[in-house]
Amino acid sequence: MGVMLLLLLNLLAVVSAVSGCTPSDKAALLAFRSSLTESYLGIFKTWTGDNCCQNWYGVSCDPTTQRVTDISLRGESEDPIFEKAGRCGYMTGSINPAICKLDSLSNIVIADWKGISGELPACLTSISSLRVLDVVGNKISGEIPENIGNLQKLTVLNLADNAISGGIPGSLVQLSSLKHLDMSNNQLSGEIPKDFGNLKMLSRALLARNKLTGSIPASIGKMSRLADLDLSMNQLSGPIPEQLGKMRVLSTLNLDNNLLSGQIPPALLSYTGMGILNLSRNSLEGNIPDVFGAKSYFMVLDLSYNGLKGPIPGSLSSSAYIGHLDLSHNHLCGPIPIGSPFDHLEASSFDSNDCLCGNPLRTC
Ligand SMILES: *[C@@H]1O[C@H](CO)[C@@H](O)[C@H](O)[C@H]1NC(C)=O
Repeated sequence: MGVMLLLLLNLLAVVSAVSGCTPSDKAALLAFRSSLTESYLGIFKTWTGDNCCQNWYGVSCDPTTQRVTDISLRGESEDPIFEKAGRCGYMTGSINPAICKLDSLSNIVIADWKGISGELPACLTSISSLRVLDVVGNKISGEIPENIGNLQKLTVLNLADNAISGGIPGSLVQLSSLKHLDMSNNQLSGEIPKDFGNLKMLSRALLARNKLTGSIPASIGKMSRLADLDLSMNQLSGPIPEQLGKMRVLSTLNLDNNLLSGQIPPALLSYTGMGILNLSRNSLEGNIPDVFGAKSYFMVLDLSYNGLKGPIPGSLSSSAYIGHLDLSHNHLCGPIPIGSPFDHLEASSFDSNDCLCGNPLRTC
């Protein structure tokens, strides 16, 4: 008898599996849709019929469990639907908390719709299967959910180009799988958590164009996979931590347009992995460390608009390559070194200093 019942239950499970998405997933999707308005492309017109796993635009399910795993709605994409409409997408409304009932979701991409506002539902942090949360390019406001650190599988968090305010929650540093963090161009304030460097898997940390204050955490030096750090256009103050010059794979460092002071750590310039370094528009002082060498290879080296003094270090001319050099608007003085990296540079690279001379400026 028990065996028969088990078989019957199994059979029921199989039948319901092949018949498509679960009624609760379907109800959650419809509630999600009810808070959004998209009238140019008509993507939600495809959200009809019982089987949300089939032909619902942007919805994907796990083939075995038939649970919804992906919501992928991009307002700018290669999809033929955009070509047909001859324009990119525009959507208004907000992200309904009903989305959190889709508790098998691994990807949420609701990107570049320009008009979606309201807050990120706090309940998103309960979707423990979530790997990608990407809501770039909307008008989302409010704060980052306090418990964001609960999302232990999260690898991509992209909140860029919205109107999110408040602080960076302390729990963020617990996202032990996070590889890509982009919160650029929001209204974030307060300090970067001191233990930010606990994000061991992080390879890109983009926090530019916010209102962040306080100093740059030295713990960042522990991030052995960090390749790209952008903290530009904030109100960060204090010195540049020396540890940033001792990282393993850091190749792009943008700290421009902050209130950073003190000297440029020599290790930052002698470290040969650095390809793009922008320290422009800060209050850096002292001499430019004379630590360049034959392995220095800069696509961009921008130290303009600081309070740097002394000569341009002679070792800079022994660099393998300097694509774009900007030392303008400092207090540098003395002859411009001679050497191949300097051959192609224009006078604007050296503009507005105290007493620089030599090619491409006036002869000494
Ligand atoms: C460096 O940063 C400054 C200030 O934000 C910006 O104006 C400049 O274009 C940047 N330099 C390069 C080469 O990108």
